[in-house]
Amino acid sequence: MGRARRSILIDTDTASDDAVALIMALRSSEVQVEAITVVAGNVPVEQASRNALFTVELCGADVPVVPGAGKPLIRDLQTADWFHGRDGLGDHGYAPSNASLAQGHAADTIVKVVRQTPGIEIITLGPLTNLALAVDRDPALVTNVSRCVVMGGAPCCEGNVTPAAEFNIWVDPEAARAVFRSGLPIELVGWQLCRGSAVLANDDIARLKSFGTKLAEFAVTCNSIAMRALHTQTGEIGISLPDPVAMGILLDPSLCLASSDHFVKVETTSALTRGMTVVDRLNVATDPRNREVWAETVYSGTQLNVCWQLDVPRWKALLFDALR
Ligand code: RIB
Ligand code: CA
Repeated sequence: MGRARRSILIDTDTASDDAVALIMALRSSEVQVEAITVVAGNVPVEQASRNALFTVELCGADVPVVPGAGKPLIRDLQTADWFHGRDGLGDHGYAPSNASLAQGHAADTIVKVVRQTPGIEIITLGPLTNLALAVDRDPALVTNVSRCVVMGGAPCCEGNVTPAAEFNIWVDPEAARAVFRSGLPIELVGWQLCRGSAVLANDDIARLKSFGTKLAEFAVTCNSIAMRALHTQTGEIGISLPDPVAMGILLDPSLCLASSDHFVKVETTSALTRGMTVVDRLNVATDPRNREVWAETVYSGTQLNVCWQLDVPRWKALLFDALR
Protein backbone atom coordinates (compact mmCIF):
# COMPACT_ATOMS: atom_id res chain seq x y z
CA MET A 1 0.00 0.00 0.00
CA GLY A 2 1.67 3.23 -1.09
CA ARG A 3 1.82 6.30 1.14
CA ALA A 4 -1.28 8.52 0.82
CA ARG A 5 -0.73 11.53 -1.41
CA ARG A 6 -0.70 14.85 0.43
CA SER A 7 -3.62 17.16 -0.39
CA ILE A 8 -2.71 20.64 -1.59
CA LEU A 9 -4.52 23.76 -2.81
CA ILE A 10 -2.76 26.17 -5.17
CA ASP A 11 -3.67 29.87 -5.46
CA THR A 12 -2.08 31.49 -8.50
CA ASP A 13 -2.01 34.58 -10.73
CA THR A 14 -1.00 32.22 -13.56
CA ALA A 15 1.75 33.63 -15.70
CA SER A 16 4.88 31.98 -17.04
CA ASP A 17 6.59 30.99 -13.79
CA ASP A 18 3.28 30.04 -12.15
CA ALA A 19 2.60 27.69 -15.08
CA VAL A 20 5.86 25.83 -14.50
CA ALA A 21 5.00 25.53 -10.79
CA LEU A 22 1.58 24.12 -11.68
CA ILE A 23 3.26 21.52 -13.90
CA MET A 24 5.54 20.49 -11.01
CA ALA A 25 2.52 19.91 -8.76
CA LEU A 26 0.30 18.26 -11.37
CA ARG A 27 3.10 15.85 -12.36
CA SER A 28 4.12 15.01 -8.78
CA SER A 29 3.31 11.60 -7.28
CA GLU A 30 3.62 13.18 -3.83
CA VAL A 31 0.58 15.46 -3.90
CA GLN A 32 -3.07 15.55 -4.89
CA VAL A 33 -4.07 19.00 -6.17
CA GLU A 34 -7.57 19.48 -4.73
CA ALA A 35 -8.18 22.81 -6.49
CA ILE A 36 -6.44 25.64 -8.31
CA THR A 37 -7.82 29.05 -7.34
CA VAL A 38 -6.98 32.07 -9.45
CA VAL A 39 -6.27 35.66 -8.43
CA ALA A 40 -5.55 38.86 -10.37
CA GLY A 41 -1.88 39.77 -10.36
CA ASN A 42 0.56 39.20 -13.20
CA VAL A 43 -2.39 39.46 -15.59
CA PRO A 44 -6.15 40.07 -15.11
CA VAL A 45 -7.93 37.17 -13.39
CA GLU A 46 -9.73 36.21 -16.62
CA GLN A 47 -6.41 35.72 -18.45
CA ALA A 48 -4.80 34.03 -15.45
CA SER A 49 -7.76 31.62 -15.37
CA ARG A 50 -7.33 30.81 -19.07
CA ASN A 51 -3.62 30.23 -18.45
CA ALA A 52 -4.39 27.86 -15.57
CA LEU A 53 -6.91 25.89 -17.67
CA PHE A 54 -4.35 25.68 -20.48
CA THR A 55 -1.65 24.37 -18.14
CA VAL A 56 -3.95 21.79 -16.51
CA GLU A 57 -4.93 20.52 -20.00
CA LEU A 58 -1.25 20.44 -21.07
CA CYS A 59 -0.61 18.08 -18.15
CA GLY A 60 -3.66 15.95 -18.95
CA ALA A 61 -4.88 16.59 -15.43
CA ASP A 62 -8.43 16.87 -14.05
CA VAL A 63 -8.36 19.60 -11.39
CA PRO A 64 -11.00 22.30 -10.79
CA VAL A 65 -9.85 25.83 -11.69
CA VAL A 66 -11.84 28.46 -9.79
CA PRO A 67 -11.61 32.19 -10.55
CA GLY A 68 -11.37 34.67 -7.70
CA ALA A 69 -10.55 38.29 -6.96
CA GLY A 70 -10.28 40.58 -9.97
CA LYS A 71 -8.46 43.24 -7.97
CA PRO A 72 -6.70 43.76 -4.64
CA LEU A 73 -8.78 44.29 -1.48
CA ILE A 74 -8.75 48.10 -1.69
CA ARG A 75 -6.21 49.11 -4.34
CA ASP A 76 -6.37 49.14 -8.14
CA LEU A 77 -4.81 46.17 -9.91
CA GLN A 78 -1.27 46.64 -11.21
CA THR A 79 -0.27 43.82 -13.55
CA ALA A 80 3.17 42.55 -14.59
CA ASP A 81 2.61 42.15 -18.32
CA TRP A 82 5.89 44.04 -18.72
CA PHE A 83 7.61 40.95 -17.31
CA HIS A 84 5.51 38.06 -18.59
CA GLY A 85 3.87 39.40 -21.77
CA ARG A 86 0.30 40.57 -22.27
CA ASP A 87 -1.12 37.04 -22.06
CA GLY A 88 1.28 36.18 -19.25
CA LEU A 89 2.76 33.26 -21.22
CA GLY A 90 5.18 35.08 -23.48
CA ASP A 91 2.58 36.13 -26.11
CA HIS A 92 2.96 33.01 -28.26
CA GLY A 93 -0.75 32.71 -28.98
CA TYR A 94 -1.30 29.35 -27.28
CA ALA A 95 -4.72 27.96 -28.25
CA PRO A 96 -7.00 28.29 -25.23
CA SER A 97 -8.25 25.15 -23.51
CA ASN A 98 -11.78 24.00 -24.24
CA ALA A 99 -12.22 23.17 -20.57
CA SER A 100 -14.52 25.30 -18.41
CA LEU A 101 -13.85 27.06 -15.16
CA ALA A 102 -15.47 25.61 -12.03
CA GLN A 103 -18.44 27.46 -10.58
CA GLY A 104 -18.17 29.79 -7.59
CA HIS A 105 -15.58 32.15 -6.17
CA ALA A 106 -12.06 31.16 -5.22
CA ALA A 107 -12.42 32.40 -1.63
CA ASP A 108 -15.44 30.17 -1.07
CA THR A 109 -13.60 27.26 -2.67
CA ILE A 110 -10.63 27.77 -0.35
CA VAL A 111 -12.99 27.72 2.67
CA LYS A 112 -14.85 24.64 1.42
CA VAL A 113 -11.79 22.61 0.42
CA VAL A 114 -9.84 23.45 3.59
CA ARG A 115 -12.85 22.59 5.78
CA GLN A 116 -13.20 19.26 3.93
CA THR A 117 -9.49 18.41 4.02
CA PRO A 118 -7.93 18.67 7.49
CA GLY A 119 -4.14 18.83 7.21
CA ILE A 120 -4.21 20.32 3.72
CA GLU A 121 -1.19 22.30 2.47
CA ILE A 122 -1.77 25.62 0.75
CA ILE A 123 0.67 27.30 -1.62
CA THR A 124 0.18 30.84 -2.91
CA LEU A 125 1.91 31.96 -6.07
CA GLY A 126 0.31 35.39 -6.47
CA PRO A 127 -1.10 38.29 -4.47
CA LEU A 128 -2.82 37.11 -1.27
CA THR A 129 -6.24 38.60 -2.04
CA ASN A 130 -8.16 35.30 -2.32
CA LEU A 131 -6.59 33.85 0.82
CA ALA A 132 -7.28 37.05 2.77
CA LEU A 133 -10.94 36.89 1.70
CA ALA A 134 -11.12 33.23 2.71
CA VAL A 135 -9.69 33.71 6.22
CA ASP A 136 -12.03 36.70 6.64
CA ARG A 137 -15.01 34.48 5.77
CA ASP A 138 -13.87 31.63 8.02
CA PRO A 139 -11.02 32.60 10.40
CA ALA A 140 -11.03 29.16 12.03
CA LEU A 141 -10.05 27.47 8.76
CA VAL A 142 -6.42 28.12 9.69
CA THR A 143 -6.58 25.21 12.15
CA ASN A 144 -7.10 22.78 9.25
CA VAL A 145 -4.00 23.95 7.36
CA SER A 146 -0.75 22.08 8.04
CA ARG A 147 1.46 24.30 5.83
CA CYS A 148 0.98 27.57 3.95
CA VAL A 149 3.89 28.19 1.56
CA VAL A 150 3.80 31.80 0.35
CA MET A 151 5.86 32.85 -2.65
CA GLY A 152 6.36 36.47 -1.77
CA GLY A 153 8.35 39.14 -0.06
CA ALA A 154 11.91 40.40 -0.15
CA PRO A 155 13.15 39.49 3.34
CA CYS A 156 16.04 41.80 4.31
CA CYS A 157 16.86 42.43 0.65
CA GLU A 158 15.88 44.31 -2.48
CA GLY A 159 12.52 43.87 -4.12
CA ASN A 160 11.69 43.26 -7.79
CA VAL A 161 8.94 45.81 -8.29
CA THR A 162 10.46 48.55 -6.12
CA PRO A 163 13.72 48.58 -4.19
CA ALA A 164 11.64 47.73 -1.10
CA ALA A 165 9.01 45.26 -2.27
CA GLU A 166 8.37 42.03 -4.15
CA PHE A 167 5.44 41.96 -6.62
CA ASN A 168 2.98 39.56 -4.91
CA ILE A 169 3.08 41.52 -1.64
CA TRP A 170 3.30 44.95 -3.33
CA VAL A 171 0.15 44.37 -5.42
CA ASP A 172 -2.03 43.78 -2.35
CA PRO A 173 -0.19 44.68 0.87
CA GLU A 174 -3.42 44.80 2.88
CA ALA A 175 -4.18 41.20 1.92
CA ALA A 176 -0.66 40.13 2.85
CA ARG A 177 -0.94 41.87 6.22
CA ALA A 178 -4.23 40.07 6.92
CA VAL A 179 -2.83 36.68 5.91
CA PHE A 180 0.38 37.18 7.92
CA ARG A 181 -1.78 37.94 11.01
CA SER A 182 -4.24 35.08 10.44
CA GLY A 183 -2.39 32.36 12.34
CA LEU A 184 -1.74 30.31 9.18
CA PRO A 185 1.53 28.30 9.43
CA ILE A 186 3.32 30.41 6.83
CA GLU A 187 6.61 29.48 5.18
CA LEU A 188 7.82 32.58 3.36
CA VAL A 189 9.74 31.95 0.12
CA GLY A 190 11.13 35.28 -0.98
CA TRP A 191 12.13 36.47 -4.41
CA GLN A 192 15.82 36.46 -3.50
CA LEU A 193 15.84 32.65 -3.58
CA CYS A 194 15.24 32.52 -7.35
CA ARG A 195 18.29 34.67 -8.18
CA GLY A 196 21.95 33.84 -8.83
CA SER A 197 22.69 30.15 -9.22
CA ALA A 198 18.94 29.40 -9.13
CA VAL A 199 18.43 31.23 -12.44
CA LEU A 200 18.14 28.70 -15.30
CA ALA A 201 21.27 29.55 -17.27
CA ASN A 202 21.80 28.82 -20.96
CA ASP A 203 23.17 25.32 -20.22
CA ASP A 204 20.09 24.52 -18.11
CA ILE A 205 17.85 25.78 -20.92
CA ALA A 206 19.73 23.72 -23.51
CA ARG A 207 19.35 20.64 -21.29
CA LEU A 208 15.61 21.22 -20.98
CA LYS A 209 15.28 21.57 -24.76
CA SER A 210 17.21 18.31 -25.19
CA PHE A 211 14.39 16.48 -23.38
CA GLY A 212 12.25 16.98 -26.49
CA THR A 213 9.06 16.98 -24.40
CA LYS A 214 6.10 19.35 -24.83
CA LEU A 215 6.32 20.35 -21.17
CA ALA A 216 10.02 21.25 -21.36
CA GLU A 217 9.46 23.15 -24.61
CA PHE A 218 6.52 25.04 -23.08
CA ALA A 219 8.43 25.86 -19.88
CA VAL A 220 11.21 27.48 -21.89
CA THR A 221 9.07 29.17 -24.55
CA CYS A 222 6.43 30.67 -22.26
CA ASN A 223 9.26 32.31 -20.29
CA SER A 224 10.82 33.98 -23.34
CA ILE A 225 9.67 37.50 -22.42
CA ALA A 226 10.45 36.88 -18.75
CA MET A 227 14.02 35.98 -19.73
CA ARG A 228 14.47 39.30 -21.52
CA ALA A 229 12.78 41.15 -18.67
CA LEU A 230 15.10 39.58 -16.09
CA HIS A 231 18.14 40.80 -18.01
CA THR A 232 16.66 44.30 -18.21
CA GLN A 233 15.77 44.20 -14.51
CA THR A 234 18.87 42.65 -12.94
CA GLY A 235 21.40 42.06 -15.72
CA GLU A 236 21.16 38.32 -15.10
CA ILE A 237 21.04 36.01 -18.11
CA GLY A 238 18.52 33.18 -17.93
CA ILE A 239 15.06 32.33 -16.64
CA SER A 240 14.18 33.13 -13.01
CA LEU A 241 11.42 30.93 -11.56
CA PRO A 242 10.20 32.18 -8.16
CA ASP A 243 6.97 30.17 -8.14
CA PRO A 244 8.71 26.88 -9.03
CA VAL A 245 11.15 27.58 -6.17
CA ALA A 246 8.21 27.88 -3.78
CA MET A 247 6.57 24.79 -5.29
CA GLY A 248 9.83 22.84 -4.89
CA ILE A 249 9.89 23.71 -1.18
CA LEU A 250 6.25 22.70 -0.83
CA LEU A 251 6.90 19.37 -2.54
CA ASP A 252 10.17 18.72 -0.68
CA PRO A 253 10.67 20.86 2.46
CA SER A 254 14.30 19.68 2.68
CA LEU A 255 15.08 21.94 -0.29
CA CYS A 256 14.97 24.84 2.18
CA LEU A 257 18.44 24.50 3.74
CA ALA A 258 18.07 27.31 6.28
CA SER A 259 14.99 28.94 7.79
CA SER A 260 13.99 30.70 11.01
CA ASP A 261 10.88 32.14 12.67
CA HIS A 262 10.32 35.88 12.79
CA PHE A 263 7.60 38.50 13.06
CA VAL A 264 7.08 39.96 9.60
CA LYS A 265 5.25 43.26 9.09
CA VAL A 266 3.95 44.53 5.77
CA GLU A 267 4.15 48.23 4.90
CA THR A 268 0.68 49.44 3.83
CA THR A 269 0.86 53.23 4.20
CA SER A 270 4.13 54.49 2.72
CA ALA A 271 4.30 55.01 -1.05
CA LEU A 272 8.08 54.57 -0.98
CA THR A 273 8.07 51.23 0.88
CA ARG A 274 4.58 49.94 -0.02
CA GLY A 275 4.53 46.13 0.29
CA MET A 276 7.87 45.89 2.06
CA THR A 277 8.16 42.76 4.20
CA VAL A 278 9.86 44.05 7.33
CA VAL A 279 11.45 40.99 8.97
CA ASP A 280 12.47 41.16 12.63
CA ARG A 281 15.46 38.97 11.78
CA LEU A 282 17.23 39.59 15.11
CA ASN A 283 13.95 38.75 16.90
CA VAL A 284 14.25 41.96 18.85
CA ALA A 285 10.47 42.06 19.09
CA THR A 286 10.42 38.93 21.24
CA ASP A 287 12.56 40.58 23.95
CA PRO A 288 10.25 42.16 26.56
CA ARG A 289 12.83 44.92 27.14
CA ASN A 290 12.20 46.12 23.59
CA ARG A 291 8.45 45.91 23.52
CA GLU A 292 7.87 49.66 23.82
CA VAL A 293 10.28 50.24 20.92
CA TRP A 294 8.96 47.42 18.76
CA ALA A 295 5.43 47.40 20.18
CA GLU A 296 3.92 48.09 16.76
CA THR A 297 5.75 45.03 15.48
CA VAL A 298 4.70 42.65 18.23
CA TYR A 299 1.07 41.74 17.62
CA SER A 300 -1.18 38.76 18.20
CA GLY A 301 -0.26 37.17 14.89
CA THR A 302 2.17 34.30 14.68
CA GLN A 303 5.75 34.41 13.51
CA LEU A 304 6.45 33.30 9.95
CA ASN A 305 9.06 30.75 9.00
CA VAL A 306 11.35 32.56 6.55
CA CYS A 307 13.47 30.49 4.15
CA TRP A 308 16.99 31.91 3.70
CA GLN A 309 18.73 29.28 1.57
CA LEU A 310 17.66 26.95 -1.26
CA ASP A 311 19.33 23.67 -2.21
CA VAL A 312 19.70 24.82 -5.82
CA PRO A 313 21.08 21.60 -7.38
CA ARG A 314 18.38 19.43 -5.83
CA TRP A 315 15.70 21.98 -6.72
CA LYS A 316 16.80 22.03 -10.36
CA ALA A 317 16.78 18.22 -10.41
CA LEU A 318 13.18 18.21 -9.11
CA LEU A 319 12.19 20.81 -11.69
CA PHE A 320 13.80 18.93 -14.57
CA ASP A 321 12.17 15.65 -13.52
CA ALA A 322 8.76 17.32 -13.77
CA LEU A 323 9.44 18.45 -17.33
CA ARG A 324 10.82 15.22 -18.81
O1 RIB B 1 7.73 38.45 -7.59
C1 RIB B 1 7.55 37.23 -8.27
C2 RIB B 1 6.14 36.76 -8.13
O2 RIB B 1 5.25 37.73 -8.70
C3 RIB B 1 5.86 35.48 -8.90
O3 RIB B 1 4.82 34.80 -8.27
C4 RIB B 1 5.42 35.98 -10.23
O4 RIB B 1 4.60 35.03 -10.92
C5 RIB B 1 4.58 37.16 -9.82
O5 RIB B 1 3.30 36.68 -9.42
CA1 CA C 1 2.87 34.20 -9.57
